[in-house]
Amino acid sequence: ASNQMWGGRFAAGPDAIMEAINASIGFDRRLAAQDIAGSRAHAAMLAACGILTDSDAEAIREGLLTVLSEIERGDFAFSTALEDIHMNVESRLRELIGEPAGRLHTARSRNDQVATDFRLWVREQCDAVDAGLEALIRALLAQAEAGADWVMPGFTHLQTAQPVTWGHHMLAYVEMFARDRARFADARRRMNESPLGAAALAGTSFPIDRQMTAQALGFDRPMANSLDAVSDRDFALEFLAAASICAMHLSRMAEELVIWSSAQFRFVALSDRFSTGSSIMPQKKNPDAAELIRAKIGRIFGANVTLMTVMKGLPLAYSKDMQEDKEPVFDAADSLMLALAAMTGMVGDMTANRAALAAAAGSGFSTATDLADWLVRALDMPFRQAHHVTGALVKAAEDKGCDLDGLTLDEMRAVHDGITDAVFGVLGVDNSVASRTSLGGTAPANVRAQIDAWKERLG
Ligand code: ARG
Repeated sequence: ASNQMWGGRFAAGPDAIMEAINASIGFDRRLAAQDIAGSRAHAAMLAACGILTDSDAEAIREGLLTVLSEIERGDFAFSTALEDIHMNVESRLRELIGEPAGRLHTARSRNDQVATDFRLWVREQCDAVDAGLEALIRALLAQAEAGADWVMPGFTHLQTAQPVTWGHHMLAYVEMFARDRARFADARRRMNESPLGAAALAGTSFPIDRQMTAQALGFDRPMANSLDAVSDRDFALEFLAAASICAMHLSRMAEELVIWSSAQFRFVALSDRFSTGSSIMPQKKNPDAAELIRAKIGRIFGANVTLMTVMKGLPLAYSKDMQEDKEPVFDAADSLMLALAAMTGMVGDMTANRAALAAAAGSGFSTATDLADWLVRALDMPFRQAHHVTGALVKAAEDKGCDLDGLTLDEMRAVHDGITDAVFGVLGVDNSVASRTSLGGTAPANVRAQIDAWKERLG
């Protein structure tokens, strides 16, 4: 039998393979709530514009509410023959209310319908991700506050560079995740225009009110061009691009947690709640959540590439290719939300090992730059020469098998006889970090001021 929704010009129904490749109900059922919200707004508008009688609009409204509750209860028979969520809902509506159901699709197409549903869904995800990011930022701020002045090594090339504070390191991630929030907010603002009423691609001859449906669905305004409205998916791509950058940040942090929780570093202890054991090695406590965050990110990058590839080269306006926009976005959104929740849990629960951080901060000649700066200030040495003298002192310490503050004054004066006792004042890591008070620097005083500023901003 031919299709009940569009089969007028067909004598035969589709091949099973055709149905299999064509149907999207297996995944786009996730748009049910958005689809019904869009249909309710459309029906109310049609009635307000005199295109639909009030009694038909009321029957549609009540019927759609019934369909929604059936779907929410898990009491809805989704049909592959009905292809997608739009036709599944409309078909059930017809069973429930009869003839008025057939009037709902006046002045509308599945093309503007799906564009509307998907925008609503992605917009909701922007809000969910924003809340997830805020929770993570709060967890990072709590860590920063607990260890605002705890010293740890700062790295470049993963080699000990200069001492920094634990609070400063946590706040670096706060900055990154705050920019991620801004990127999602920016994408959300741009996507918040309504495609509904663009119809198939050209608009409609019915006297519809697109402002009304836009407003009912929380959009700022209707999209200006009907071809654009049904044919672009840049809003989903902006979501995936923002998600990819956020995911990259999460992955870097996950990598640090993997390194830091190792026996060789022992910078942090992850909680039992966010670790797993080994089935053979009884001593193991593995950072699986961090590793899985690091790996989930691949799906998100992949989704971005997938949808870019689906969209490239499509002529205007709608092509069925675009039905492939949903699964990558669903998967990326799910992966990102889970990764955010897991990271927030890990950060909230983890214990920084203050002693291990301090021991590592002091090793590896981490205050060599402080020593060179002291030579510049105390002896008025050009920095290049100070760099050279300090290099010789590092070598002397290395030969002796100690850190810089393990050299005696005589041993230092053997390298440069202008050096005095006062040098020992700059070799300690606490002095080092306390001295870094330049704007954005790692000094505990800066860190505390930044924490206060963030708390104020978050409210
Ligand atoms: N399931 C379709 C999609 O996701 C809905 C739009 C179908 N439109 C059409 N003209 N076949 O894109």
